[in-house]
Amino acid sequence: MKAVTWQGTRNVSVETVPDPVLKEPTDAIIRVTSSGLCGSDLHLYETLGPFMTPGDIVGHEPMGIVEETGPDVGGLQVGDRVVVPFQIACGHCYMCDLQLQTQCETTQVREYGSGAALFGYSKLYGAVDGAQAEYLRIPHADYGPIKVPDGPVDDRFLFLSDVMPTAWQAVDYANVPDGGTVLVLGLGPIGDMATRIALHRGYQVIAVDLVDERLSRAIASGATTIDLREVDDVPEAVRSLTGGRGTDSVVDAVGMEAHGSPVASLMQKATGLLPRGLAAPLMQRGGIDRLAALHTAIEAVRRGGTISLSGVYGGQTDPMPMMTMFDKQITLRMGQANVRRWVDDLLPLVEDQDVLGTETFATDHVALDDAPQAYRDFQHKAHGTVKVVFRP
Ligand SMILES: NC(=O)c1ccc[n+]([C@@H]2O[C@H](COP(=O)([O-])OP(=O)(O)OC[C@H]3O[C@@H](n4cnc5c(N)ncnc54)[C@H](O)[C@@H]3O)[C@@H](O)[C@H]2O)c1
Ligand SMILES: [Zn+2]
Ligand SMILES: [Zn+2]
Repeated sequence: MKAVTWQGTRNVSVETVPDPVLKEPTDAIIRVTSSGLCGSDLHLYETLGPFMTPGDIVGHEPMGIVEETGPDVGGLQVGDRVVVPFQIACGHCYMCDLQLQTQCETTQVREYGSGAALFGYSKLYGAVDGAQAEYLRIPHADYGPIKVPDGPVDDRFLFLSDVMPTAWQAVDYANVPDGGTVLVLGLGPIGDMATRIALHRGYQVIAVDLVDERLSRAIASGATTIDLREVDDVPEAVRSLTGGRGTDSVVDAVGMEAHGSPVASLMQKATGLLPRGLAAPLMQRGGIDRLAALHTAIEAVRRGGTISLSGVYGGQTDPMPMMTMFDKQITLRMGQANVRRWVDDLLPLVEDQDVLGTETFATDHVALDDAPQAYRDFQHKAHGTVKVVFRP
């Protein structure tokens, strides 16, 4: 089959690789009909290289048709249409029972001290083959896949695999009071969807980015926007829109690729140039100090407010403004989305009607062969690219 593979920093290629086969009785194989390209894939593309092996298949946002099931996959039939959560969870351990599927104790990658295994996401997350491919093996398919009805186009359901639960959890964790205000930092797919969900839940949204199309999409959804290119002091701009107080909550949907910390950028580039054995520990422990958005969040949230991080951060020596965080009595929540936990909240938003505009959410639908260009366009935010969906 054809698959998108990681070959090095800023280098993916489409290769012919062996078709996946069932390995465990709870495995299933799907024929992938759509597969998203995520901001998290850009971390592999740009900074997490030390944890990748050339040839790794990337991608973690798939849907498709069940082709084959192991003997212990009850509930799924060949021919079913399914969306596959980006994390692999067993559904019956202590953590899964707590609805913390990202911490699944069956699939945790203990060698690296990581949570649940993820599709296509480096050795840190189990080196599982990814989903930007024609076929995908799904471990623990007795629990993960979400069955969806025939009829609507793939894009109606595809984002249940990552974008929607991530954005939903981001807003949920942000603890916005009824009718309250939330600042959304970053208007990539996650921030854009978080904006839509927050508005749908009756909150007022102030949204920040530095890319025209992304700001326009948030305005069209009903948010007030701040253009990072036009404002020196975002927290000050936020306070001036909120009676001097700051927003009740902040969703940080930027993560460690943040624009605005040149020193850290050099550090990331430097680790990209180091021999692999040295670079990996440096990346994991030495820190990736790109905290521009997080610092903005801490300054812009009102006293006693909540910051919800869905942007991915790495590194362990990042300096945090503890004095401000303590003095302002800030609550900080974060983590990968526990996909299955939010499915019951999200299905009603896509089943009968397209409440969040999923069908027009993707800007680019491309063949797998066009992956190298699609990665470049998404990283550079070129040609109006906001969300890419591969159609294998
Ligand atoms: N928690 C999860 O489960 C989960 C799931 C998916 C993605 N993510 C993470 O969410 C983040 C966003 O992903 P995405 O797919 O939307 O990707 P993206 O890279 O397209 O989005 C990031 C956006 O932030 C903007 N930005 C950069 N610096 C900024 C700053 N200082 N202030 C405001 N905006 C700034 C960029 O212009 C871009 O639009 C990534 O870190 C990704 O890894 C987390
Ligand atoms: Zn993702
Ligand atoms: Zn589990």
